[in-house]
Amino acid sequence: MSVYTHGHHPTVLSSHTWRTIENSAAYLAGHLRPGAALLDVGCGPGTITTEFAARVAPGRVVGVDAAEDVLAQARAHAAERDARNIEFAVADVHDLDFPDDTFDVVHAHQVLQHIADPVRALAEMRRVCKPGGIVASREADFGSFTWYPQPPGMDDWLPVYYKIARGNGGEPEAGRRLVSWAREAGFTDVAFSSSVWAFATPAEREWWSGTWGGRMVRSNVADQAVAKGHATRDDLERIHRGWLEWAAAPDGVFTAQHGEILCRA
Ligand SMILES: C[S@@+](CC[C@H](N)C(=O)[O-])C[C@H]1O[C@@H](n2cnc3c(N)ncnc32)[C@H](O)[C@@H]1O
Repeated sequence: MSVYTHGHHPTVLSSHTWRTIENSAAYLAGHLRPGAALLDVGCGPGTITTEFAARVAPGRVVGVDAAEDVLAQARAHAAERDARNIEFAVADVHDLDFPDDTFDVVHAHQVLQHIADPVRALAEMRRVCKPGGIVASREADFGSFTWYPQPPGMDDWLPVYYKIARGNGGEPEAGRRLVSWAREAGFTDVAFSSSVWAFATPAEREWWSGTWGGRMVRSNVADQAVAKGHATRDDLERIHRGWLEWAAAPDGVFTAQHGEILCRA
């Protein structure tokens, strides 16, 4: 299995737990019908998964993730929302432990960019999806991110991140590759769309810079950057200061573009 670049440090989870259907899976919302069986692969802390459970109830929702530790948080979140039609389990998306044709909808958000073999993963998602069902994925495209102003420290952020992510077998420009991967996985009916996270208010800038700037000096990302020689601690501190400078700019804006696919199984 590939290494999950980010790990589950609080700086990382603060970004994952903000996620909802509205801000991260709107392209799929029209396909969520009551009674549908849904699998969410790489569900992380499960905030999107739990919203799916409310939309498809009484349908069964299963969230799986390679990391056991984050599933405790997902279970707690689902319990807080009183979601009864949901369960969580450890699984590797490359090799899912479900029979063929089990689910009506199979979803992955920000997962394919991190794994060793996204084509095999999509083929596996297709296998467990019923004929006529939907396989959906949304992935960031880091090469399409924009921000302003551009403090010097921030310039080094993406080159360092690309080296770490690709060194772990991931692909930071996954968004633009989704259709290609889906076709290689055997899908012939694939609809592509794109959506953007935009951050500009003081609270959004503080939070987004806290999750990304913070991740560059704490978390697995920072440790790997140093261990693999992609950056020194001083480099990472400079990148972090760049993020803080961007967040403090009253005219600061950031856009994060994503690719999305809806594939008919
Ligand atoms: C960026 S997080 C996304 C979490 C969630 N989908 C969301 O958007 O909030 C990626 C998740 O994929 C999981 N993951 C990484 N490799 C995996 C694999 N091979 N199989 C299943 N899950 C995996 C990680 O543990 C992590 O929780």
